[in-house]
Amino acid sequence: MTEQFVSHNVEETYEFGRQFAGRLAVGALVALEGDLGAGKTALVRGIAKGLGVQDERMVSSPTYVLVQEYPCTLPIYHIDLYRMRHPGPELADLGLHEMLAHGVVLIEWAERAEKHLPRPFWRIRLEHSGLEERQLTISRVE
Ligand SMILES: Nc1ncnc2c1ncn2[C@@H]1O[C@H](COP(=O)(O)OP(=O)(O)OP(=O)(O)O)[C@@H](O)[C@H]1O
Ligand SMILES: [Mg+2]
Repeated sequence: MTEQFVSHNVEETYEFGRQFAGRLAVGALVALEGDLGAGKTALVRGIAKGLGVQDERMVSSPTYVLVQEYPCTLPIYHIDLYRMRHPGPELADLGLHEMLAHGVVLIEWAERAEKHLPRPFWRIRLEHSGLEERQLTISRVE
């Protein structure tokens, strides 16, 4: 089943993420797909807030580290595959299964390693459909 959501600005994307967090529990994996500036990190910020992170301003694209962990009621692991050369093996080396055993994993640029992701997972695609408009397509990959 596929759901669609149209976001008209960054606040709506954040708010969508905050609500979407209600569907997540330990072991949840969310694959975020979409171009540069599509709003993946904005969405992660909303999800983190929804999961109870104290200060969502600490959420940014992990640049110098491969994975960022946010302390929360349940740990959030935020990964960005943009700079990874071999995302599949690197994800395994990072301890993806261990992370899923403890918390929620949110992966930006997940399309780069989709065949390596353990099923089931949530896929959220963000597409530019205007200056500030984004089309979100949410599906469950079994
Ligand atoms: N509807 C919208 N949803 C999300 N972001 C929006 C929207 N409209 C405008 N923006 C702007 O687009 C940018 C999205 O940046 P963000 O870092 O979230 O993208 P990203 O997909 O994580 O990019 P990257 O691939 O570089 O990590 C922000 O500057 C934000 O203000
Ligand atoms: Mg980002």
